[in-house]
Amino acid sequence: MKSRVRIVEVGPRDGLQNEKVTVATADKIELVDRLSATGLQSIEATSFVSPKWVPQLADAAEVYAGIQRRPGVHYPVLVPNERGYERAREVGVEEIAVFTAASEEFNRRNINASIEESLQRFEPVLRRARADGVRVRGYVSTVLGCPYQGAVPLADVVRVARELHQMGCYEVSLGDTIGVGTPGKARDMLRAVAAEVPMTALAVHFHDTWGQALANILGCLEEGVAVVDAAVAGTGGCPYARGASGNVATEDVVYMLHGLGVETGVDLEALAATGRWLSGLLGRETGSKAGRALTAA
Ligand code: HMG
Ligand code: MG
Repeated sequence: MKSRVRIVEVGPRDGLQNEKVTVATADKIELVDRLSATGLQSIEATSFVSPKWVPQLADAAEVYAGIQRRPGVHYPVLVPNERGYERAREVGVEEIAVFTAASEEFNRRNINASIEESLQRFEPVLRRARADGVRVRGYVSTVLGCPYQGAVPLADVVRVARELHQMGCYEVSLGDTIGVGTPGKARDMLRAVAAEVPMTALAVHFHDTWGQALANILGCLEEGVAVVDAAVAGTGGCPYARGASGNVATEDVVYMLHGLGVETGVDLEALAATGRWLSGLLGRETGSKAGRALTAA
């Protein structure tokens, strides 16, 4: 296992994209700023997708323009196409994330394109990003199961991850969108991808629908992955993936990593306080067990 792990905090994006409660723009900005103060190095700030598809993040430009960007912290945003790239660049975005899937039906429902069409759509985005000095992350969804197709062949996951990496994504995040994976399958999937894409260019992204996320992460850490996506207070879920639920909670990941003696650079108390504050805004209890335990302590 690596002695240091970088966490990609996806709460402001994955966490808020599926919320029924309307979160005010000022609160989204405060969320990112609070997360910035916890020592996190990567915070996915928002999403420049179609506001018709994800109205929750229609204020992406205002949010991004309003956050205080700390030196040394990266603030990627989701971009599905050139229109999204242009909107992001207008407010000075320096890192983007493109996203596709390993299963056709989910991809069609999520971004209205086949896998191949989506990769073609990303090509001009990646070309422009390279010319502009913008870093690009890539996501592969449904790596351990699809809500519409069911099982997803490993070969499809490997192919899409390899293509994103070859196109110029510096990191490819492997998403268990509906949280159906179990540790053995997660490890096998990661090992298969790492045979084609360097482990140093891979991240894992687990949703916790079946309560397997932390176990899956531990399995993947033992395989050598050193980047883990997570969302504060366990928020999250994709509106176009039937049955998707929250991401693994960042507080729980940090607590586990520190317990293993793995450095994250993240202040768990400050993170948990942010999770409590966010849960208050959303009007429900935190989805983080560590967050709950810290409140009780
Ligand atoms: P479409 O309807 O096929 O696209 O959607 P279109 O090009 O026909 O455009 C339709 C309308 O949207 C047009 O407006 C465009 O201008 C506008 P109209 O002419 O009707 O007024 N439009 C845009 N507006 C603002 N920004 C844009 C943009 N693009 C088009 N970027 C599209 C295709 C990709 C746009 C749409 O399907 C979409 O936005 N999908 C996003 C869905 C999404 O955000 N899902 C959640 C994120 S993925 C996820 O959560 C998984 C992940 O966490 C990993 C995991 O867990 O597995 C990453
Ligand atoms: Mg997700």
